[in-house]
Amino acid sequence: SKKKIYVTRADVPSPGLELLQERCDVTIWKETYPVPRSELLTQIQGVDALFCLLTDKIDKEVLDKAGDRLKVIGTMSVGYDHIDVNAVKSRGIRLGYTPEVLTDAVSELTIALLLATSRRLFEAHQQILELWSAWSPVWMCGAGLNHSTVGVVGFGRIGQEVAKRLKSFNVAKIIYTGRSDKPEAKSLGAIRVSLDDLLSQSDFVIVTCALTPETKEMFNDATFAKMKPNAIFVNTSRGGESAALQRALENGTIQAAGLDVMTPEPLPPDHPLLKLKNCVILPHIGSATMWARTEMAVMTARNILAALNNEVMPAEVK
Ligand code: GLV
Ligand code: GLV
Repeated sequence: SKKKIYVTRADVPSPGLELLQERCDVTIWKETYPVPRSELLTQIQGVDALFCLLTDKIDKEVLDKAGDRLKVIGTMSVGYDHIDVNAVKSRGIRLGYTPEVLTDAVSELTIALLLATSRRLFEAHQQILELWSAWSPVWMCGAGLNHSTVGVVGFGRIGQEVAKRLKSFNVAKIIYTGRSDKPEAKSLGAIRVSLDDLLSQSDFVIVTCALTPETKEMFNDATFAKMKPNAIFVNTSRGGESAALQRALENGTIQAAGLDVMTPEPLPPDHPLLKLKNCVILPHIGSATMWARTEMAVMTARNILAALNNEVMPAEVK
C-alpha cells in the first residue's frame, strides 16, 4: 500500500508536492497560513512521513501522537531549531532539511539589508513621500560599505557567500568568528577573531549562524555594549533578544539594525521595534526567491522519498 504523507501548507511549490503525489498518499493542510496545532496533532496520527515548515513546532507531543509508523520528517528550511532533534532521533525517525539551495538567496538578502541600513533606504523613501524639499549636502547621508570592517558571526555557507559578495563593495576588512578556522576564509581574505574583537572592531556585525543553545541570545545588553556606536547590526539567521536590541537602538549604543528575523515572529504591528527609524525589518524573506523556494520544496520531497526507501537522503540532519 501507498505510504502516507502529511504536508503542513497548501502553497508548497508544486514540483515538490508532485514528486510526493506520484508515489504516495498525500494529505495537505488546505490553507496558506500555518496549520493549527490541534489539526497537526490529529493529522500526524498514522502517517509515514511529515513534510513541515519552520512555523511548525515539532516536539515530543507531536511525535507521541504520530505513532510508530512515522519514519521521516522533512522540513522545508535550512534551520531546524523548531524541531526537537533529540526526541526525533531517539525515536529512530530520520530528519531532512534544505541546505545550499537557499544560500545565494539568503546571502543576497543580507547584502540588501546592509545597503538598506547603511544608505538609509527606507528612511529616504519615507522622506520622498513626506518632505523632500531639495537636494542637500549632508541630508540622508549614511556610512556606505566601502572602507568598512565587516564582522560575520558564524562563517558557514551563508556567511562565506556574504563575504564573497562584500568584496565587490570594496570593504576594508572582513573578520569572522566561529568554533573553528574555516579553510575557505583564506581565499576570501577573511580573518578569524574572538567574538569580543569582532564586536569592538566591526562597523557591521552580521549574524548568519544557526540558532543553537550556544548562540541563543548571544546578542544581549552586554554584547551590544561592546559594539561601536556607529555599528550596524544585521541578522538574517534566527531572532534574538528583541528587548536588548531595542534598548541598544534607542540609547544609541549602536547606530542601526537590519533584521529579517526577530522574536517573536510575526512581530505584532504595535511592536516598539517597528517605530524605530534606524531599524529595517523584513518578514523572514531571506530564502524568498521562487527558485530557492522551489528547490527547497523539491529537496524536502526527495529527502522524504529517500528515507521511505531506506536510501541516502540528499540532506539529512545527523
Ligand atoms: C529559513 O529561515 C530557513 O531556515 O530555511
Ligand atoms: C532581535 O530580534 C535580534 O535578532 O537580536
